[in-house]
Amino acid sequence: MDATPTAGAARYLPDDRALDSLQTAAGRCQGCALFEAATQTVFGHGRSGAPIMLVGEQPGNQEDRAGMPFVGPAGRLLTRALDEVGIDPALTYRTNAVKHFKFTRKHGKRRIHQKPSRTEIVACRPWLIAEIEAVRPQVIVCLGATAAQALLGTAFRISAQRGQLTQLPSAIDLQLAPEPIVLATVHPSAVLRDRSDRHDEAYKLFVDDLRVAGAVPSGRRTTQVAGR
Ligand code: URA
Ligand code: SF4
Repeated sequence: MDATPTAGAARYLPDDRALDSLQTAAGRCQGCALFEAATQTVFGHGRSGAPIMLVGEQPGNQEDRAGMPFVGPAGRLLTRALDEVGIDPALTYRTNAVKHFKFTRKHGKRRIHQKPSRTEIVACRPWLIAEIEAVRPQVIVCLGATAAQALLGTAFRISAQRGQLTQLPSAIDLQLAPEPIVLATVHPSAVLRDRSDRHDEAYKLFVDDLRVAGAVPSGRRTTQVAGR
């Protein structure tokens, strides 16, 4: 087996695939170089059996310090939007496509978020797949392009396909039946960053997409599920 610390997360996965075992094992992951500079692994949060799984990009500055996903500004916007569509936070499992914070330092001090590379997204994906298999959500919401890339492939375009209920591509081989439905929308940070006069509209569209996802567990599907 390749013993370099950049060979991906697969060899760090434990035999026991319960969420708490996965979380403990992920704390020791060196599947790519991102573990080196970050404070800690930020694993997903929520309970097994949660019907709605929300997948972000990677932990941000605050999440890296707290060890918990979506505790910073993007998380607060997400929580407000979920509240608006009546999704109880207890029904959600929140995680990220990449589990370590990637950043550069500006003037040696402030940590500036950097987008994870394709290699890092793929390296970290075994944790995400294991989380999906352990949580068994009915619907997965990809928040932004990184999460959509991790689960729906590089050809997926959020701008064209957001808000549509779809299936995971066959390349994502889940030990799970039935498979969850997937929907992608923008990242809450993109809504936060939009300070233009389109901000309210961006927020409303984000809320609309979450509403579509939120209707899946009760069977009130508002959009046709596209085939593979
Ligand atoms: N952005 C993300 O994608 N995930 C977090 O946990 C926080 C901010
Ligand atoms: Fe492992 Fe993912 Fe962290 Fe890379 S980002 S070290 S693959 S947990």
